[in-house]
Amino acid sequence: MSECCTYSQDINTGQSLVAISVDSACAASLQCDIYIQREPNEEPILYRRKSHPLEKADLDRLIKRGIETIFISKSHEATYRDRMYEEVCCDETIAPAERFRVLRDINEAFFEKAFRGGKLDEVVGFSEVLGSQLTEIISRNDLVVEDLLSLMEFDNGTYTHCINVSTYCLLLATHLGISKVEELESIAAGALLHDIGKRQVQLSVLNKPGPLTDEQREHVQRHPLIGFEELSLRGDMNWRQLMIVYQHHERMDGLGYPTGISGDEIHPWARICSIADVFHALTSIRPYRFPLSVSAASVVIGGEMKTAFDSEMVKCWNTIMKTTPCFMA
Ligand SMILES: [Fe+2]
Ligand SMILES: [Fe+2]
Repeated sequence: MSECCTYSQDINTGQSLVAISVDSACAASLQCDIYIQREPNEEPILYRRKSHPLEKADLDRLIKRGIETIFISKSHEATYRDRMYEEVCCDETIAPAERFRVLRDINEAFFEKAFRGGKLDEVVGFSEVLGSQLTEIISRNDLVVEDLLSLMEFDNGTYTHCINVSTYCLLLATHLGISKVEELESIAAGALLHDIGKRQVQLSVLNKPGPLTDEQREHVQRHPLIGFEELSLRGDMNWRQLMIVYQHHERMDGLGYPTGISGDEIHPWARICSIADVFHALTSIRPYRFPLSVSAASVVIGGEMKTAFDSEMVKCWNTIMKTTPCFMA
């Protein structure tokens, strides 16, 4: 996780500060006061006033000095995200994978905060916007999958999980021939929300290093139903998105949860999400096991777990992975 995760305080004014990785910052988007830390555990101090805007050379100099993080006031966070989106993510001359990286990084803190502490409205609204932006980048013909995968992060945080699953869903959906932008946007937003029911599960249980008790497992396995019930009350999500949330842990062989339905009873969008979800779970760092490589995870999906998934979708997934030779080595 690289950006906007840390909150700090200006020691003079007491205002909250948000950390931004220097690496992915764009000088033109930083039209506000900038703070830096002289030492890792010190409070940030004012580095540059808004009246003397940063330039690219300044960011390069900071990197040379070994400074990886700058801080801006929390009140500028939304403006900064909007500017970054316009300056970088909308710039057609920048490679899609790089635009993906920036899009992912600038939204991390906001998503984590909304997911864990915010209102459901906030998470749903944000997922719709982020889903559209993600679709714009991922469903392009000139996206090089290899470049994209080389940028993926494999930690086990909520945001990384949701955005990776959404990204994999878009990759798989476009390769399965889904090309309508509205459908892709809908899939992306639904996938960002697929684990929304986990908001009701205690973090100590979700992150427990080691096996869960029967009671804990039952509790965790209620998250698709909880998410479905919560979202279906709203009326602004379509049925197919709700099926992503409700059925993403169902299996084609009927051994999934929460209901144990099988085959065609599982909505195709949920089948797409289940491959994306398991792929991220296998490749991410967990407290109790090492992550699998991309190629090893693809082997598991097409091998020992193949009865769980739609076989045509697995074939398609493996074809996508074969276009990324460095991962299949
Ligand atoms: Fe889930
Ligand atoms: Fe998940």
